[in-house]
Amino acid sequence: MKTTLFAAALMIAAPVAYGDAAATYASKCASCHGADGKGQTTMGKKQKVKDYTTADGQSFPDAEGVKAILDGKDKMKGYKDKGITEADAKDLVKYIRAFKK
Ligand code: HEC
Repeated sequence: MKTTLFAAALMIAAPVAYGDAAATYASKCASCHGADGKGQTTMGKKQKVKDYTTADGQSFPDAEGVKAILDGKDKMKGYKDKGITEADAKDLVKYIRAFKK
């Protein structure tokens, strides 16, 4: 238990590399948007996030997605104050695009 807490503290303290969109998505986005992009999580359902595996869910333009990630949209807070750059946001949009089958 002590070890777990210590590891968690280290994770918060250590500078996080946002280069890897998949890792960022898993740690920061999947709680709402779901690991599979469907948004079928407790939070995602509550906030009515879109299903990114559908054409409708993907209907937002790239620029809008980038803006949502940086500045926030509805219940989603922006991530630009949390170390996510515009380049990271673009990578995340690309990552989200890949959910569509
Ligand atoms: C607290 C829950 C929550 C978290 C965490 C979250 N989002 Fe969102 N997200 C939302 C909600 C709510 C919306 C607005 C409704 C919608 O468009 O589906 C949204 C919208 C978006 C949109 C805009 C889609 C559009 O149609 O304009 C993108 C892109 C997006 N999120 C990506 C991300 C990424 C990338 C992360 C992680 C860095 C993330 N979200 C984290 C809840 C969340």
